[in-house]
Amino acid sequence: MNKVTFIGAGNMNKAIITGLVKQGFAAKNIMVSNPSAEKREAMAQQLGICQSADNIVAANFSDTIVLGVKPHFIADVCQQLAANIDLSNKTIISVAAGITIEQMQTAIAQKVAVVRCMPNTPSQIGLGMTGMYASCETTAEQQKFADTLLSSVGKVLWLDTESDIDNLLTVSGSGPAYFFAFMEAMQQQAIAFGFSEQIARELVQQTALGAAQMVVQNSESIATLRENVTSKGGATQAALAVFRDGTLADLVCAAMKAAKTRSLEMSKTN
Ligand SMILES: NC(=O)c1ccc[n+]([C@@H]2O[C@H](COP(=O)([O-])OP(=O)(O)OC[C@H]3O[C@@H](n4cnc5c(N)ncnc54)[C@H](OP(=O)(O)O)[C@@H]3O)[C@@H](O)[C@H]2O)c1
Repeated sequence: MNKVTFIGAGNMNKAIITGLVKQGFAAKNIMVSNPSAEKREAMAQQLGICQSADNIVAANFSDTIVLGVKPHFIADVCQQLAANIDLSNKTIISVAAGITIEQMQTAIAQKVAVVRCMPNTPSQIGLGMTGMYASCETTAEQQKFADTLLSSVGKVLWLDTESDIDNLLTVSGSGPAYFFAFMEAMQQQAIAFGFSEQIARELVQQTALGAAQMVVQNSESIATLRENVTSKGGATQAALAVFRDGTLADLVCAAMKAAKTRSLEMSKTN
């Protein structure tokens, strides 16, 4: 059975590890390392995985190392690993936004197999969407294991070019936060109309779930689904007119471009 190491016990790695364990990946074959004890010990206790304060101990545990630290720490971690371990037969999987394969291989000072991926937080409930791109040094077997890992927490899309990662980030990587922000705003207004916080949440969450499932289960375009619930001169049309007048589509477009710009900036500064 393959083993896997996670460097960093933060939100993203926790989401993937939680998903893996829920999907039946043996917890004893997973190790996480993190400098502060609290998060890694809580994760180990909750999920039954192995843990260490030492990245080198963790990296020696397996041949597949998932880097889940903040982008500005990626180079340091790569250098630390390369200085202490022979990485030539390992697979480095990075979830860091904006850090290129070339930057990681430069920090490692070796053209090792690197799989860059952009997962999202619904991975923790098995509904993730991950974009992946493998360096040319990655073997078919290494790529298959990386696919197996991320597929066990949701859908995987292999991209043709590395730059597609920056585009995908703006859709599925940051996307859950966009929907949360929209749901939050709807919940606030529902509360303003007099519903309790709990009822407002239930109304919003069930509506979001139903709408998402309708998109999944219907082959019609999303625009058609929207039109189907919009009777002429009705209440929904009145609401959508406000979105149109407030240029919601332009706002979404600007937000996604801002995410892409920031992602590209991060690759330059890290
Ligand atoms: N959150 C998302 O939705 C999302 C989506 C896609 C990709 N990502 C990517 O995932 C990565 C992690 O993001 P996150 O939101 O999970 O961040 P996070 O919650 O802050 O987690 C980062 C973790 O890394 C630990 N860490 C810091 N330096 C370390 C080191 N030298 N060695 C080992 N562990 C170290 C931190 O420990 P301490 O807290 O103890 O310092 C922290 O637990 C980022 O690169 C981000 O771009 C995130």
